[in-house]
Amino acid sequence: MDAYLEGGILYSKAETRTPWTPSLTWSERRRDCGRMFVSVRKARKLVQVVATCCIVGLMIFWTPLDNNIMNHMKSYSYRYLINSYDFVNESLSISKHSLNRVASYPYLINHKEKCQQQDVLLLLFVKTSPENWYRRNAIRQTWGNENYVRSQLNANIKVVFALGRLTDRTQQAQVQRKLVLEDQTYNDLIQQDFLDTFHNLTLKLLLQFSWVNAYCPHAKFIMSADDDIFIHMPNLVAYLQSLAQMGVQDLWIGRVHRGSPPVRDKSSKYYVPYEMYQWPSYPDYTAGAAYVISSDVAAKVYEASQTLNTSLYIDDVFMGLCANKMGIVPQYHVFFSGEGKAPYHPCIYNQMMTSHGHVEDLHRLWKQATDPKVKNVTSGFLSRMYCKLVNIWLLCRIHYQETYPCSAAFS
Ligand SMILES: *[C@@H]1O[C@H](CO)[C@@H](O)[C@H](O)[C@H]1NC(C)=O
Ligand SMILES: *[C@@H]1O[C@H](CO)[C@@H](O)[C@H](O)[C@H]1NC(C)=O
Ligand SMILES: *[C@@H]1O[C@H](CO)[C@@H](O)[C@H](O)[C@H]1NC(C)=O
Ligand SMILES: *[C@@H]1O[C@H](CO)[C@@H](O)[C@H](O)[C@H]1NC(C)=O
Repeated sequence: MDAYLEGGILYSKAETRTPWTPSLTWSERRRDCGRMFVSVRKARKLVQVVATCCIVGLMIFWTPLDNNIMNHMKSYSYRYLINSYDFVNESLSISKHSLNRVASYPYLINHKEKCQQQDVLLLLFVKTSPENWYRRNAIRQTWGNENYVRSQLNANIKVVFALGRLTDRTQQAQVQRKLVLEDQTYNDLIQQDFLDTFHNLTLKLLLQFSWVNAYCPHAKFIMSADDDIFIHMPNLVAYLQSLAQMGVQDLWIGRVHRGSPPVRDKSSKYYVPYEMYQWPSYPDYTAGAAYVISSDVAAKVYEASQTLNTSLYIDDVFMGLCANKMGIVPQYHVFFSGEGKAPYHPCIYNQMMTSHGHVEDLHRLWKQATDPKVKNVTSGFLSRMYCKLVNIWLLCRIHYQETYPCSAAFS
């Protein structure tokens, strides 16, 4: 074999031997070490430069390759490496002379007095549409029942339904009469004169924030929720009461979307053209299905909403832009659900805040989740251990439905 071993190093005979010579002086060695550190620093810098180049390259050259994975890669790198959304302030701000054009639509149905009482813990907007009678009634009979919350949970909440006008012109007048009748019974509709469509959701958001600003700035917390959501009112109220006691401010809590990319697929409901939003990711925001903010955040978001271009019709993203402008950051609460339904189980009911996609099963879930037995089943050391295991089993499997994250089982 044309090789030999010396000092653990395999040399080929042909190779000239240039092993490290131990005859270096100390100062020389120190210099060597110094060089090593310099090169580590250089390497780190190089990695940063390469990463940045990659992102910029992706952004410039691969934009036509508009597939989903690319979008998410771009947006995530953008979110975590560049993480700056200062441009929002400048590029989406509207000029001073067009500020007046943000004038809100006139109210068709309103209840200025709804929130007059002083100690309102929570003002809850349910985003609904004129034709969703069934959902509104189900909510009034279950988690949206103010009297239940007052008598059973000892808290004042106000539940109002935010809606626009029916789109279908042929039935508009008839449906509007029905809405007025419904409102005479329940006094809880807040309706403005815009068409109630998906692409007008940002108008519905503006309705909520301007209503809070005008008629209910003293509510400690404000919540916005879809009309197919389930809210575990006892858990939520207890949680908010504890936050109120601590005098919490700057609160914006829900299911946080981090580094979400704008959808560039024209066939999607969520399609956003480049002219409307040109960057690879949105600032962090909470899913519009259900989130809670403190009153100071509501005031700031309202202020920002008056100065930003409202053409972006995805309401929760728009809210994220407003909050970003005011330097407000959303917080993730593991028991606010995303798109999916929470598993039906007492160990889940014990901690759940919201769950999405409940219409037909709302009554049943409300009854089960607020049953006093739930507390009995889940209190005590052994029960808590049992629930921990059950929750790990329920939440940490691979799901096709987006429900609470696995980490919720350990909270
Ligand atoms: C947004 O821009 C305005 C002026 O264009 C500036 O006064 C304000 O401080 C900026 N806000 C933030 C949060 O950067
Ligand atoms: C939003 O509502 C306004 C006012 O009713 C209407 O003119 C407009 O067409 C609606 N926009 C969409 C996208 O539905
Ligand atoms: C808002 O942005 C849209 C593009 O998405 C633009 O056409 C419109 O002129 C802008 N409005 C204002 C008031 O700047
Ligand atoms: C719950 O437990 C208490 C005592 O720990 C008991 O008095 C009560 O009847 C139980 N409630 C139900 C619904 O089982």
